[in-house]
Amino acid sequence: MKVYVPLDSAARALGADAVAAAIRAEADRRGIDVTIVRNGSRGMVWLEPLVEVDRGDGRAAYGPVTAADVPALLDGTLKGHGRVEDIPFFARQTRLTFQRCGLVDPTDLDDYAAHGGLAGLRRAAAMSGPEIVAEVTASGLRGRGGAGFPTGIKWKTVQQAAADRKYIVCNADEGDSGTFADRMLMEGDPFSLIEGMAIAGLGVGATRGYVYIRSEYPVAIAVMREAVAVARRRGVLGPDVVGSGRAFDMEVRVGAGAYVCGEETSLLNSLEGKRGTVRAKPPLPALEGFLGCPTVVNNVISLATVPVIFEKGAAHYEAFGLGRSRGTVTLQIAGNVKRGGLFETAFGMTLGEAVEEIAGGTASGRPVKAVQVGGPLGAYMPRDRFDTPLGYEDFDAAGGLIGHAGLVVFDDTADMLKLARFAMEFCAVESCGKCTPCRIGAVRGVETIDRIAAGDPRAAALLTDLCETMKDGSLCALGGFTPYPVMSALTHFPADFATMKEAAE
Ligand SMILES: Cc1cc2nc3c(=O)[nH]c(=O)nc-3n(C[C@H](O)[C@H](O)[C@H](O)COP(=O)(O)O)c2cc1C
Ligand code: SF4
Repeated sequence: MKVYVPLDSAARALGADAVAAAIRAEADRRGIDVTIVRNGSRGMVWLEPLVEVDRGDGRAAYGPVTAADVPALLDGTLKGHGRVEDIPFFARQTRLTFQRCGLVDPTDLDDYAAHGGLAGLRRAAAMSGPEIVAEVTASGLRGRGGAGFPTGIKWKTVQQAAADRKYIVCNADEGDSGTFADRMLMEGDPFSLIEGMAIAGLGVGATRGYVYIRSEYPVAIAVMREAVAVARRRGVLGPDVVGSGRAFDMEVRVGAGAYVCGEETSLLNSLEGKRGTVRAKPPLPALEGFLGCPTVVNNVISLATVPVIFEKGAAHYEAFGLGRSRGTVTLQIAGNVKRGGLFETAFGMTLGEAVEEIAGGTASGRPVKAVQVGGPLGAYMPRDRFDTPLGYEDFDAAGGLIGHAGLVVFDDTADMLKLARFAMEFCAVESCGKCTPCRIGAVRGVETIDRIAAGDPRAAALLTDLCETMKDGSLCALGGFTPYPVMSALTHFPADFATMKEAAE
């Protein structure tokens, strides 16, 4: 009997290790042959720890499982969910980037290859650098780290830059609130990131890569390190990548955990051992990045999507999506919801569908008031924007941003003034201090929101003015986008900004 118990951090936080230990102990006590595979998460966090049992006739899912459920689990009498693929939340997805996550043993390269892994790299190895870049361009892939910049264009800039050394840097800082796709992918299917980085290396002519992971992700760090060692031993990394005669190797670096170190130039400074402050652009990292050399900086999901593009072809990937948002978006559903987790779907689903149908509305049972999309710098979307389709341009037109595609749901008890204040406070705390509108503006922003709360009639106009200055005058998106949550809260929920004033009157 084979039993799959996730090693994923979310599953562990919900008791997966205790369940695995109980299964081992009970199997030993009964003297039965049970192999425990610590797989990645299938993404349905409300069912974690989600355990799958294979008695030789396919995998049956159970969850949430506790240690006390283990005797019944092994007897086959525990009530389960059937196959994971038949659970509606899973069945509705289009899993391309996450096709193997939870399915495979994360650091077993043969299991990876048996599930389509390495096919993309082998195909890319037979292509020239410009052909590889053209394939990525044709797929329509855009950066999943936040800005949605076309990946092919970024790679082309690095590919065409004349330099002795070039680098691939993977941004695994994942600081956005409510996001976990990068972590889940690295813990559950690390070879897909390694393969994506190797393809990027062959494409642009880079021989070295780094994955910059935040220190708060010890499991992802350990799994990635082990997978890199396996890939090197098996010739996927090293002087002769899958027998191509071309070299690419990589290593994992651990960041100390500052939100601004997710900004690409700040990340590069941190990677170089310097303080994590933002660099002025130009020069672009694509031309002068790590150690002054041309560097591709891409998010985990951007890079981990590259293998499937090469495995199935750019046209297959490009066929999914909406407008200029091609392929799939890996939604991370969190906050006050019935069903939270990772939901991969083609761009185009509406926000309302994701929140009401997929997530099942709020866990509290109260009406949804707002959804913050895109992390701490994303706008609060009210219910009357629920018809907005998930697409970069569509969200922009609706006054929001998709960012890293985290959705944090709030019910009608949320106090939007407090949330706006938190956005300014977050910016003040996390500011790298390089430019005035952010460093000073965020502090003044907190004070101004306190004045609104205290009933100062002129403070709302002042806050609007301040947000304009931060938006237009900040060097990076930390100061430049903090006005999104603040102004969306003020604009869509004016009543929350009037209560104290009315009380004072
Ligand atoms: C304050 C701030 C924090 C950011 N944090 C992240 C992050 O945690 N992960 C990430 O991939 N991109 C983050 N970004 C975006 C990166 O600067 C950059 O656009 C991204 O890594 C590029 O990769 P992509 O093209 O694959 O999206 C952040 C940007 C800002 C301004
Ligand atoms: S906006 Fe803030 S975080 Fe960005 S460079 Fe300016 S001070 Fe630093």
